[in-house]
Amino acid sequence: LGVALSLALPLAGVSAACSASEGAVGGAAPGSGTQGASGIGDPDFPEDGNGGYDVEHYGLKLSYDPASRRLSGSATVRARAVQDLTAFDLDLHGLTVSQVTVDGAAARFGRRDDELTISPVARIAKDARFDVTVDYAGVPDPIRNYANLGTYGFIATPDGSFVTCEPNGAKTWFPSNDHPSDKATYAFEITVPAGVTAIANGELAGTPATSDGRTTFVWRERHPMASYLATMTTGRFETRTGKSAAGTPVYAAVDPAFHGSLDTLYTKTGQITDYWSTVFGPYPFSSTGAVVDDYAAGYALENQTKPIYGGFTPDSGVMAHELAHQWFGDSVSITRWKDLWLNEGFATYAEWLWSEHEGGTTADTVFRNYYAKTADSMWSYPPGRAQRADLFNGSVYTRGAMTLHALRREIGDATFFALIKKWTASHQYGNATTEQFVGLAEQMSGKDLSGLFDAWLYQPRRPAAVI
Ligand code: ARG
Ligand code: ZN
Repeated sequence: LGVALSLALPLAGVSAACSASEGAVGGAAPGSGTQGASGIGDPDFPEDGNGGYDVEHYGLKLSYDPASRRLSGSATVRARAVQDLTAFDLDLHGLTVSQVTVDGAAARFGRRDDELTISPVARIAKDARFDVTVDYAGVPDPIRNYANLGTYGFIATPDGSFVTCEPNGAKTWFPSNDHPSDKATYAFEITVPAGVTAIANGELAGTPATSDGRTTFVWRERHPMASYLATMTTGRFETRTGKSAAGTPVYAAVDPAFHGSLDTLYTKTGQITDYWSTVFGPYPFSSTGAVVDDYAAGYALENQTKPIYGGFTPDSGVMAHELAHQWFGDSVSITRWKDLWLNEGFATYAEWLWSEHEGGTTADTVFRNYYAKTADSMWSYPPGRAQRADLFNGSVYTRGAMTLHALRREIGDATFFALIKKWTASHQYGNATTEQFVGLAEQMSGKDLSGLFDAWLYQPRRPAAVI
């Protein structure tokens, strides 16, 4: 974090406080074509993310006080312009911005809905790298009841925060290009009252230091990460760290209410991570982990390197799902939300593979049992086109997984598992689309699979029986 932040320190002689102002949105001349778009181009989420630049790194230096629920600090966003820019947006929901600098010079900024529009004093040239520092504070307001998604984002808990951001809740705690198509590395420097643990993605840098009753945790995620996978979960936690049998560092943490779950959580996380490494390809990140908080979210989330379980002790099937997401969703990320089955269908299929691996129901039997449910609502929801109003529909999970099983039966085990490893290797740390998956499957099998994928992914009806 130190590097990113020091590069963005205001230049001597610039009086940021005097020249910055919270004024009207937009500094670009109308029609000049140098104002970055307010959305990254996802038709289902038109205001999510932003145009005109690509983020390379976020440096988040934040303090959180659970008693007052106040978050404060600064975010430094290092980006590369993909067009000339006289103004550009970051996504930010609520919170009060006190100052913005671009390459150390105070910049004008304005707020409209969840867009923070920044007008640097000098035009940024296409391809130039620039550092934006946003100083901000306030009581984070999570997203509630948006598109049938429950409560997500930065959620205050009695002892800290539960931070799960899929699909677009990163903007509730830091200014971001909040869309999975712009991945970046992260450094977190999180200060909390002594006795509180702050958990973010990646690995701890050094031992957390305490002074004046406050402890600072420095975490670094060196691999590109989608914004919705970033977390700063805080509170009272019991932790256990070590290495899996194959040597991957493991960080497990439980709220004291889940004291009895810690050892199993730790052990299973290492075992499942190691097993998936043999099935999906090498584990893509520098550590694995698990967090159980006592906030009853009703879901788990595959936060990169730190899957989080919201108020329940996960069974190994749920852990298998969240850890499979480290490959499918986290390392290989979707480009548009409509392709969400590439995350959820694969992670659900991983649950079936795990069940079979454990000597339980085989993947084939799970598939057949679902296929026999002729009246299930998933048949009317094509999983290859996740819908904005019902993004996490069960079809995206179950029928998505069934699509993979139908594919496996069509191309055979050897080609199917080679395809999966090739998929994770070719798009590691990047983004991909359904079309790319279909293309790779056809290339590796030498078969025309358009009928199979069309029936399973895109038709609002139950596909005809597969052999
Ligand atoms: N990706 C998560 C999972 O399947 C689900 C996240 C649900 N998000 C939400 N806002 N309800 O593991
Ligand atoms: Zn999932």
